[in-house]
Amino acid sequence: MSVTSFDLTKIRQDFPTLKQTINDQPLTYLDSAATTHKPQCVIDATNAFYSEQNANVHRGRHTLSEQATQRYEQVRDKTAAYFGVASNEIVWTKGATEAINLVANGLKNQITSSDTVVITPLDHHANIVPWQVLTQQTGATLAVLPLNADATFDIDACCDFIALHKPKLLAISQASNTLGNITDLAPLIRCAKSVGCLVLVDGAQGALHLKSNLNTLDCDFYVFSAHKMLGPTGLGALYGRSALLNSLLPYQTGGEMIETVTLTHSTFREAPAKFESGTPNIAGVLGFGAALDYLNRLNHQDIVNHEQALLQYAAHKLLKIDGITLYSELKHNIGTLCFNYKNEHPYDLATLLDGYGVALRSGHHCTQPLMTHLGINGSLRASLAFYNNRADVDNFIFALQNCIALLD
Ligand code: ALA
Repeated sequence: MSVTSFDLTKIRQDFPTLKQTINDQPLTYLDSAATTHKPQCVIDATNAFYSEQNANVHRGRHTLSEQATQRYEQVRDKTAAYFGVASNEIVWTKGATEAINLVANGLKNQITSSDTVVITPLDHHANIVPWQVLTQQTGATLAVLPLNADATFDIDACCDFIALHKPKLLAISQASNTLGNITDLAPLIRCAKSVGCLVLVDGAQGALHLKSNLNTLDCDFYVFSAHKMLGPTGLGALYGRSALLNSLLPYQTGGEMIETVTLTHSTFREAPAKFESGTPNIAGVLGFGAALDYLNRLNHQDIVNHEQALLQYAAHKLLKIDGITLYSELKHNIGTLCFNYKNEHPYDLATLLDGYGVALRSGHHCTQPLMTHLGINGSLRASLAFYNNRADVDNFIFALQNCIALLD
């Protein structure tokens, strides 16, 4: 189905899962930071691979295999074009988490005990734990970027920190999965470059909402998950500068990543093949291609305008409720509201909200260091995507007020 302008009614029709009821209420889906819903074209493309093709890639000379290889590689080209980089700089992984682990493992022979790796207190565990393991294994120092009490970055203070520590690598998210806050990456990346520091950007949350040209962003590595960009689960990608990718140790070894194998020695192909051993998630890649086609048919600025208007509408209504504490920053935010109501446990409210068909995330959101920083054990998180509408926000606020009335 072609989308030529931002027609929200039509867009919502493209997402079959949005049409259901949960607990006899229309679904109000506010958990797109966990995973986005999939338009029908993505489901169709994934199904079509199994029902019409089902051949392996890069391994056969028969028609179906050649077709599968061509379509699979076309999606790599499409992904590279979407992010403004070259096709051989896109490596398929099973998600953003695997992509970060791939880089952390791949750098083992380049990090020494005299190096420093910098992480942040607000990143997802997936962008903290791999760096803890890498620094433990290499004897390198793990340092933590300063964060203001309200979980925003003081960019000047961060640049001073980077200039002082001269790290080998900075690992930082483009947008916080918990708060939705957008990181002002450009000055941080400039500052990192000036001291020869590599920058890995976790784009898991930013990729859909911010649509970045990675050449302009000038990071060294960028990771994202397809399922947070309307695509299938079990697929993600790593972008890395070609020379840098080729300098990494292989993450997993096996078929298709080799040049030659004897019983005692093997040589490896160049990236991306070097990092894609084994049969890949072909159906997922083809489904993701359909997701990119869908996004390319929309005007990205229309998406941003709609999400931002909805965010402000939701924040305004949420903050009218006495007893709400909002942790998200609203000026630079992808569309996520992280909040608590008085001292109520977020799980209790999330369970009660589910009774009204409202789906949102509760808990620590895989960001325990951020929870510690904020002095809380957990929170509720309502995260928007462009397929949400004002009725979703109204349902959410109505349900929240009723749940609060039950608890008070
Ligand atoms: N990382 C995803 C989230 O924040 C799953 O919910």
